[in-house]
Amino acid sequence: MKVETLRWSDGVLEMIDQRILPATFIYLQFDSAASVAEGIRSMVVRGAPAIGVAAAYGVALEALRLLAVTDELFQRGMNEGINTLAQSRPTAVNLFWALSRMKQVWQGVASETNTQVAMHLLAEAHEIFAEDIRINRTLGSHGAELLRDGAHVLTHCNAGALATAGHGTALGIIRSAVEAGKKISVIADETRPFLQGARLTAWEMVQEKIPVTLITDNTAGFMMSRGEVDAVVVGTDRVAANGDVANKIGTYMVAVLAQRHHIPFYVACPLSTIDMSIASGKDIPIEERHPDEVKGFRDFHWAAQGVQIRNPSFDITPAELVTALITEKGVIHQPDVKKLRVLFN
Ligand code: MRU
Repeated sequence: MKVETLRWSDGVLEMIDQRILPATFIYLQFDSAASVAEGIRSMVVRGAPAIGVAAAYGVALEALRLLAVTDELFQRGMNEGINTLAQSRPTAVNLFWALSRMKQVWQGVASETNTQVAMHLLAEAHEIFAEDIRINRTLGSHGAELLRDGAHVLTHCNAGALATAGHGTALGIIRSAVEAGKKISVIADETRPFLQGARLTAWEMVQEKIPVTLITDNTAGFMMSRGEVDAVVVGTDRVAANGDVANKIGTYMVAVLAQRHHIPFYVACPLSTIDMSIASGKDIPIEERHPDEVKGFRDFHWAAQGVQIRNPSFDITPAELVTALITEKGVIHQPDVKKLRVLFN
């Protein structure tokens, strides 16, 4: 089954509601920048590339919504819409990358009618969507070569089709390896507190009959110490110019454990996730989410009343722990600022 995380349908954006997967599979509809921003904030859609694609459609939807207004109101409405989208989540740089690409297209055609501007923006959103799938397939085939036949691959969070326009980045590498005829089995960290591993990665792999074993986050070290993990492959939300990697909270622990056990730690990373304007990981903004996600589930709270809670959603893995970044332009072993600069030249 091909997972269509986002799709354009009759003038609206439809996105799978990832908050309630896998128990319930439904699409929600979005018709403005504000509604898409709320979808990103509340995590109907999540995962860095998918957030970028959704934001691009959000800009196009806003232009379509404002077709009939004066030029001045169009200008104001579009700027407000883009600002609202930019404030939806802070860590994944793909959001800002997609917004800046959409703004550039807008500026290039600003003298045209509102309808023409909206059509250009919609075409660009479709292009960002299609490009994301192409990139994931290329990146996937580069990464697949690094996995041996029979490998047990541990992943954290969900960097699958659900986190992108399709195929996935980390899970894209696994899919590409399986397509190339390799037998790969996946070990999915559950990924507290939002459970992207248990709910989304496990679901994607089960759908495709790729063997998958779910573990609690604190089981990874035990599995590694028993020789049950051959490689780690994760996605990323932002890579700094020196190669430091921001990804889902808990990734850093996995990277430290992988180094301790001499297991390669690979990061699947489209170029749109590399932020050359940020020197190192310590400058990457880390989203702090609501304490309720840690306290319990819905109305049931298992944590002691009155306890203080921290809920950072991402952490930073220093470049020195990264065996390689796997990009659409090839594999960058032991990434550093020089190697990343070359990538962009
Ligand atoms: O909070 P989320 O679910 O948006 O976090 C997602 C991740 O951390 C992914 O690993 C990352 O975005 C890469 S997705 C290809």
